[in-house]
Amino acid sequence: MYIIQGGETLSGEIRVQGSKNSSLPILAATILNGSKNTICDVPKIKDIEVMNQILLHLGADIVEKDNVIEINTENVNKFDVPEQLMRRMRSSIVLMGALLGRFGKAKVSYPGGCEIGPRPIDLHLKGLSLMGVNFTEGHGFLYAKASELKGAEIHLDFPSVGATENLMLAGVLAKGTTIIRNVAKEPEIVDLQNFLNRMGANVKGAGTDTIKIEGCRIQDLKQVNNYTIIPDRIAAGTYLVAAAITRGQIKLTNVIVEHLEPILAKLRETGCVIVNNKAEIELYVDKPLVSLDSLRTLPYPGFPTDMQAPMMALLATVEGTSILTETIFENRFKHAQELRRMGANITINGNTAIIKGVKQLSGAIVEAKDLRAGAALILAALAAKGETIVEGAAYVERGYENIEGNLAALGAKIIKKHKI
Ligand code: EPZ
Repeated sequence: MYIIQGGETLSGEIRVQGSKNSSLPILAATILNGSKNTICDVPKIKDIEVMNQILLHLGADIVEKDNVIEINTENVNKFDVPEQLMRRMRSSIVLMGALLGRFGKAKVSYPGGCEIGPRPIDLHLKGLSLMGVNFTEGHGFLYAKASELKGAEIHLDFPSVGATENLMLAGVLAKGTTIIRNVAKEPEIVDLQNFLNRMGANVKGAGTDTIKIEGCRIQDLKQVNNYTIIPDRIAAGTYLVAAAITRGQIKLTNVIVEHLEPILAKLRETGCVIVNNKAEIELYVDKPLVSLDSLRTLPYPGFPTDMQAPMMALLATVEGTSILTETIFENRFKHAQELRRMGANITINGNTAIIKGVKQLSGAIVEAKDLRAGAALILAALAAKGETIVEGAAYVERGYENIEGNLAALGAKIIKKHKI
């Protein structure tokens, strides 16, 4: 749990961690070259620990030093992802594409229903079927097999991040050309493309609506030395909100400003002052903040769904009525009831939240039900009067490296205690 004494105005400088959602598919991609890979600036978070445990189970050799991971996948000789690890992290489904590329088969358990909605994988399966993969299920397991993985033309019904990544990974060692249309355009997709091309693959179009992959053979792939993961735009956004919600100031280093634009635009709209110094960004508050008539989460470059909960916490403290619509996940408002326990005035109507700002939130005992909800509750606690206890630190630790240390460095009164 996190114990926070609210009321401090934050100020200072933070170096942003490497991206969780870029590191995970890139670690999965290392299965493809059966060689050594050195990946830098990987965040030290629980989801990475789980991915590493899975890769070790499959036969990889891993050496971790600070934020550098050296992974050799030469001896990977298994294609089954252990159920208990799969359940801990739904995004391990992206291993399926890499295992199919390497071995022509994969055995995964149906990814755990996540805290934010059912999280189906129909788009992954439809795309892989077009590439010649046959699926059989039994006892909660999905067995994927392709006598020959071949390139295909695939049109995604929805620009799913995970489906885009899985199909990219399957396409690298498929026979022929794979064209995927209506793909996700998130920066993490571009990072995955860059990593695959550094490995010797031939992937083009990431960041646009269409990705094209020319299949190659494993002997065409080589080891990757010192690949640096892009900064985590959601962690960056979370720290920006920490400064905004306490009406303070923050300077962030290790940012790619372009990736933050959808978040910066909305923070500016509330009245935050944001100074863009190219490789770093500064936010401060010099006047009362205002509510947002409309905030809709959308696929990139729209406003990111992962910043919806942090923004709800901020808007709960801003005078006026804000309307927030979640269009990506069905059930991603669980933090609203916890914010209400702190005095927030939030009404949920389907996938829309109506947030009426209050003058002062009050400390309470609240519980995180997912990663970004946990971050939002910590942010609200920074601004609340008195002490807040945020249960469910395990969720927050999945995605944020040392959030309590970073916030304390900015002047927050926060400690993390493990429940005995
Ligand atoms: C990735 O999840 C991220 N996770 C999520 O971040 C992020 O919220 C999400 O993309 C959207 O940006 C990682 O990258 C590890 P999707 P993913 O497939 O791939 C539906 C965080 O907090 N869908 O783009 O699971 C799905 O149910 C996490 O860091 C299907 O219907 O997201 C959801 O409603 C949370 N069928 C929507 O699409 C499918 O086959 C978006 O899902 C696949 C997805």
